[in-house]
Amino acid sequence: MQVERPLRVLGIETSCDETAAAVVSSDRQVLSNIVLSQLDEHRPYGGVVPEIAARSHIDHLDSLIAQAMQTAGLTYDDLDAVAATAGPGLIGGVMVGLMTAKAIAVAAEKPFVAINHLEGHALTARLTEDVAFPYLLLLISGGHCQLLVVKGVGHYQRLGTTIDDAAGEAFDKTAKMMGLGYPGGPALEKAALNGDALRFSLPQPMKGRPDYNFSFSGLKTAVRREIEKLSTSITAQDIADLSASFQWALASAIEDRLARAMAYFADHVGGENMTCVVAGGVAANHYLKQKLQDVAHAHDFRLVVPPPALCTDNGAMIAWAGVEYAREGRFAPLDTGARARWPLDPDAPAVIGAGVKA
Ligand code: KG4
Ligand code: ZN
Repeated sequence: MQVERPLRVLGIETSCDETAAAVVSSDRQVLSNIVLSQLDEHRPYGGVVPEIAARSHIDHLDSLIAQAMQTAGLTYDDLDAVAATAGPGLIGGVMVGLMTAKAIAVAAEKPFVAINHLEGHALTARLTEDVAFPYLLLLISGGHCQLLVVKGVGHYQRLGTTIDDAAGEAFDKTAKMMGLGYPGGPALEKAALNGDALRFSLPQPMKGRPDYNFSFSGLKTAVRREIEKLSTSITAQDIADLSASFQWALASAIEDRLARAMAYFADHVGGENMTCVVAGGVAANHYLKQKLQDVAHAHDFRLVVPPPALCTDNGAMIAWAGVEYAREGRFAPLDTGARARWPLDPDAPAVIGAGVKA
């Protein structure tokens, strides 16, 4: 594209329970980043209700976009592209953001970019730090848990994925069993601060397996059994100890998988400055981040973890991915559809149990 000044892209995210809009420029400035969480609307149900999410996106998205444009001090005329999450995610919500972005693109006569939500997470580190391709990516969110080699924009090699629950899902479900409320990840991390991680001996799923896959449902079941044993006499200290033991076991399993992936990357991809990016909502977990830092150190990798506000779902990550595509002139046709499932590596072999999480 021939533009003298940095490119500016509006990004819209509506694939789960955050309604978000942001404007980001190609010189890595976040000009605005407005996120409206629907937590309070879903909390009574203990999880995200797709129909409520879609309706709430409809109610709030227009005013959020107006806020994002106003904060950035721009009009639609000043934009170089409009980007939206086109999947994977809850299809009703994805459609809301996608249709809105297309309408703005048509009305303002700007190109449209369709973003894979997972790629938004994957590329965020290039917005916040100097990260060059190729790099290793550990994507740990509420819906996904994967290890990938990021070779370039739109170019991924999946090494492994979860065969059942995603890491964030395991946090959320385990927290729910312990009555820690929703969302479970941050609540469980907080409870674990006062707990003894050595009190309960829980499984570290997949540890030592000769692949790069994850599994967390057995760990969740093991916690359930401990809760049943404690029955009605369960105390706040029991819950803190269970949380700490769960977090330790989960981290230990992820450390093992990551170490294997780093060894693969060093042998098969290599490069002078080997970098591992951790992305997705679970990357906000301080305990896990420290553990992953230790693994990176041991394998001579630089670990890059974007700040928590850019790890959990937001519009800036979609706007930035939009910048990455726009500067390569890779725009999407206006008949691009919403996709519930959209793997980053379409060539990766199917993994039994992975389903939409692949
Ligand atoms: O990336 P994200 O915002 O949404 C998805 O695309 O899934 O990730 C949300 C997930 C939830 O499962 C939430 O419990 C988890 O990230 N999470 C955490 C923490 N903060 C968010 N899990 C563990 N510790 C945290 N501090
Ligand atoms: Zn996400």
